[in-house]
Amino acid sequence: MPNLVIHPALPALLVAFAAAGSAGCGLSSEGEAQAAETRVNPALTPALIAEGQAIFRFDTFGDEQLWTDQLRMHEVVATIDPITALAIGLKVDSEALPPGLLDTADLSDPATTAALLKLDAVVGIKASIDDDNRITRLGITCALCHSSVDDSVGPGIGRRMDGWANVDLDPGAIIALSPAVPLEAKAVYTSWGPGKYDPRFNIDGLSTPIVLPPAYGLRHIRNATLTGDGPVSYWNAYVAVTQMGGQGNFSDPRLGIDVRHTPDLVTAKLPALRAYQLSLKAPPPPVGSFDRVAARRGFPVFARNCMGCHVGSSRTDNNSGRLHAPEETGMDGAYAARTANKAYRTTPLRGLWQHPPYFHDGSAATLADVVEHYDDTLALGLTAAERADLIEYLKTL
Ligand code: HEC
Ligand code: HEC
Repeated sequence: MPNLVIHPALPALLVAFAAAGSAGCGLSSEGEAQAAETRVNPALTPALIAEGQAIFRFDTFGDEQLWTDQLRMHEVVATIDPITALAIGLKVDSEALPPGLLDTADLSDPATTAALLKLDAVVGIKASIDDDNRITRLGITCALCHSSVDDSVGPGIGRRMDGWANVDLDPGAIIALSPAVPLEAKAVYTSWGPGKYDPRFNIDGLSTPIVLPPAYGLRHIRNATLTGDGPVSYWNAYVAVTQMGGQGNFSDPRLGIDVRHTPDLVTAKLPALRAYQLSLKAPPPPVGSFDRVAARRGFPVFARNCMGCHVGSSRTDNNSGRLHAPEETGMDGAYAARTANKAYRTTPLRGLWQHPPYFHDGSAATLADVVEHYDDTLALGLTAAERADLIEYLKTL
């Protein structure tokens, strides 16, 4: 058996992992291979990026076994109309819709949801629909949590913007709709709220939800995750296998996790998936969203007070291996304690304007709150003018 610790509150979610079989033991070579890959800083060829985009948007890695066979979400989604789906943060890809469809579609009819799914227009959800417009199978993709749309057609409806943190999505509320989730666990899932998820709850049974981060702007970042647990592909495999319920291998002795599936539908896709993520640039701030002159004044304030940790163009000292104990920056340590590294990576600041709230737990609602937090915690003694300028500078990143 895999030595994954299984929390008793969540049997349904975990049968997937327990059923994984156990072909091996100890540290897999995948982790090492992924680390080596990142060291060579791969060439991002257009073909590899395109392949990765298709995986990011549409590949479920076989996770229907979790979302359909165990959680029975296909039955739940069949009762959800598009208005409700949009309200829990799901997004609709307008470019997948035939012209005029939205003029006539009834957004209060669950049948419209099935029609949208048939068109592959619901971002991050992949479904099979039969001839009677019934959802027969359904799974999720990376895009669910890490893509949004530009709202060009309406709220939640527009062109895809991959890599954007879906700050509106309420993954806990969605999972809690499953008839297979025990009441006790439902209470935990519904406590997280929009824009947050706990990617370790089904491993250790604890709940300290963290913000859904962007998956863009990672080209020159050595380690992914808030705690820098490993390179992008390490984390992609973790999420695909242990969270999405994908059929693949993931092993990390630091966490006591060793899950294996045959066939492995994840590992071979990691290089293309990584190439796509590394190709995603952080979105520039909208025109007029910050005061240019004040931002210019804010840069030296940032350089003096922040660049000890947010160094260089990557704005993180983690590329040289550094991590920070939670108390160094006045952070709550409960989430870090559950991770492999147990300390926080200096977040590589990118697209800040796009994804409030800030810090791992969303404890700063605005950039003003971020600056106030540091001013207090690090006793910086910033003047009101310096604080205001620094905020304008942060809006440009
Ligand atoms: C249910 C929502 C969800 C899904 C689905 C999901 N993620 Fe994430 N992702 C998260 C959360 C939450 C984190 C933060 C974890 C951390 O940093 O400790 C995260 C972190 C990341 C990061 C690290 C970002 C950084 O700043 O270092 C990357 C990259 C990423 N995810 C890519 C992916 C890919 C690729 C997939 C598909 C295989 C995926 N995610 C599926 C929720 C999700
Ligand atoms: C001692 C190192 C250190 C210093 C100094 C520092 N930071 Fe950070 N910063 C971190 C760490 C570590 C995190 C991750 C904390 C977390 O999420 O819990 C972080 C997170 C952030 C975030 C959150 C990003 C996000 O996507 O949620 C912002 C914004 C930020 N810092 C801005 C600043 C500013 C502005 C300053 C200067 C006033 C500053 N930092 C000084 C280490 C530092």
